[in-house]
Amino acid sequence: MEKTIYWQKISETSGFSRMIDQTVIPEEFKTVDIKSSDDMYDAIKTMIVRGAPAIGIAGAHGVVLSAIENKEASDYKTFLSEIEKQAEYINSSRPTAVNLKWAIDNQLEIIRKNSDKTNEEIIELLVQNAIRLEDEDIRINKKIGEYGSSVVPKGATIMTHCNAGALATVGWGTALGVVRSAWEKDKTIKVFADETRPRQQGARLTTYELTRDGIDTTLITDGMGAYFMNKGMIDVVITGADRIALNGDSANKIGTYMVAIAAKYHNVPFYIAAPKSTIDPNIKSGKEIVIELRNKEEVTMINGKPVCTDKVNVINPGFDVTPASLITGIITEYGIFKPDEIYKLFE
Ligand code: MRU
Repeated sequence: MEKTIYWQKISETSGFSRMIDQTVIPEEFKTVDIKSSDDMYDAIKTMIVRGAPAIGIAGAHGVVLSAIENKEASDYKTFLSEIEKQAEYINSSRPTAVNLKWAIDNQLEIIRKNSDKTNEEIIELLVQNAIRLEDEDIRINKKIGEYGSSVVPKGATIMTHCNAGALATVGWGTALGVVRSAWEKDKTIKVFADETRPRQQGARLTTYELTRDGIDTTLITDGMGAYFMNKGMIDVVITGADRIALNGDSANKIGTYMVAIAAKYHNVPFYIAAPKSTIDPNIKSGKEIVIELRNKEEVTMINGKPVCTDKVNVINPGFDVTPASLITGIITEYGIFKPDEIYKLFE
């Protein structure tokens, strides 16, 4: 699959962000070019780009765009403070996935460390760093895939939730990176993907990218996981994460918690696959994770048509937190950790 998001260079100090438009898959497959930092906020907010590592890269591109917009700033202090303001705005687009803040901070650090350089020179460094982060994302996902494939038994059926695939990253994927790496070694593995209401990332995106690769994929609705676990038809569950606390509690797409409870009950191993950048060293437990609340139309409408009366109350949290006690292991680019040992990555 082509890169989900990348910096399209025009020169060393100019260019734009090109991304696959994830709101139109599977009906259509097209890219969108984002040429301003305000448009980057909108692209993340409206989920043209989504998935924790992919929105991290989008944030890094947003900082470059903001720097280009401020290249005529008369002094370094103004240049930095204007970009910091816009970076904070972009970061507010989606509050749960920590990768967004991580990548934005990584870019701001470049600006702060180079106060002796011209605006133009700093922009060049920001472009280089954004491209480095893109390349690193794929390299990290391949490592996650390599480590993770060891937990996939021969001929296994893997259940996954939401989309933690190539589309949620620059390429290869985290949870689906594990699927891809396992599939390279064993063509008999299968995937059960649940729909993932309300935005159907499982149905629209996961089945799209896996079937494109020729991987045997079955779509189920969100309520079916426990049924298939009870029948002995799921061997392992692997999902991604948006933010992991130091105690191993992991936020991921709403519904993940319920899948993890069902997996525990049926003795099915439940793994999270995520890069170190998804772990938030500033929070001790999942209780501190801010959960994004999204609009009610995502729940009340399907394909633009209402599925319920407009008299009903609706609440639409985008994520939930799976407690560490339900997680068998966290697969990272540094190896597989017991959730209560994940803090060791920061020692
Ligand atoms: O709301 P989304 O589609 O951005 O949510 C995505 C997820 O929950 C993914 O599982 C997570 O970001 C990990 S992506 C490798």
